[in-house]
Amino acid sequence: MTSPTAPGPVPGPDIRAAGPVPRPGILDIAPYIGGDATAPGIERPIRLASNESALGPSPKAIAAYRALSGEIDRYPDGSSAKLREALGRHHGLDPERIVCGSGSDELIGLLLRAYAGPGSEVLYSRHGFLMYPIGALAVGATPVAVPERDLTADVDGFLARLTERTRIVFIANPNNPTGTYLSARDMARLHAGLPRNVVLAIDAAYAEFVNRNDYEPGVALVNRAENVVMLRTFSKIYALAGLRLGWAYCPPAIADVLNRIRGPFNVTAPALAAGVAAVEDVAALARARAHNQHWLPWLSERLAALGLNLTPSVGNFVLPCFPEDPRRNADAAYAFLQSRGILTRKMGAYSLPQHLRITIGTGEEMETVAAALAEFMAEFKAGA
Ligand SMILES: Cc1ncc(COP(=O)(O)O)c(C=O)c1O
Repeated sequence: MTSPTAPGPVPGPDIRAAGPVPRPGILDIAPYIGGDATAPGIERPIRLASNESALGPSPKAIAAYRALSGEIDRYPDGSSAKLREALGRHHGLDPERIVCGSGSDELIGLLLRAYAGPGSEVLYSRHGFLMYPIGALAVGATPVAVPERDLTADVDGFLARLTERTRIVFIANPNNPTGTYLSARDMARLHAGLPRNVVLAIDAAYAEFVNRNDYEPGVALVNRAENVVMLRTFSKIYALAGLRLGWAYCPPAIADVLNRIRGPFNVTAPALAAGVAAVEDVAALARARAHNQHWLPWLSERLAALGLNLTPSVGNFVLPCFPEDPRRNADAAYAFLQSRGILTRKMGAYSLPQHLRITIGTGEEMETVAAALAEFMAEFKAGA
């Protein structure tokens, strides 16, 4: 007879000898690789690889960040109350339904941990933001890439791929890296086709840059549905990427769930202080928006005039498509620009190996990159 305290079955010696084994799915992840920040031999490269805002942060946000330096011995306010209130005032939202995070990346991960897992499926558009499939694999869920039409999310494609296992649909609107967007009407049509147990996560990281009448960042849908979440970030137009700050606007039940599983102090005190100052500096926001509205079409027109194919972008970046010829393909263009100290983003990880993504930078940076690409294309023509 076995005693009640006898140990259970001992794992086979092969398992014990193999070392720690991560959960299924984790070794399928190709780690996210950020944009280059350095160019060999160049002291201050032009950094157009990560969609950070051209004009830098609001001076008021920088001052608020510096003012916090005397208090970094203290834990931050774990409820991010002042920032949620500032966001509530600025956007006309209930602060109770806002959850702040260490970048929107953290909030993407929290949504996945809460609502997906082994046996479930997570839908994202084929050339959508990479953190959706990476995050899905990290929780043991199956990422399902939905084909796009003209590099744009396809509502019918999403609806056709729903199964009983679907738990979350992620859509970046506008999308990174394609720069395309879904109208409010199309997004509502997608939502109308989803079962009520499927979360629609609208990632509006680039919302502030969009200048289209038929666009809506997601607030209207969150206000009337129990299964829609809007994600926002301070990394792009607010230019606070280094501080790691994002937020989610949620139905009350989803806010409650995210608050249960997030870290108790998931946002740092300097990030909270800078975030409040940034939200309140509406003049800085207007300047950043106006800058993009000038330089986005400017760069798009210059690149199109060089014969490069461009998908119309509503974000703060463009995605030129280069010819297949190895002398002037995207890799050759990347290397040429890098040799001039201009850093752009290769798109192989997004299955767009013929494209480069170029962030809208300062006016001077835009003139430099346009001139360099003109030279690159001309060199080819001369040698053709
Ligand atoms: C669509 C999209 N969502 C989220 C993020 C991540 O933002 P954060 O810096 O807030 O984690 C990015 C950053 O590139 C993005 O492009």
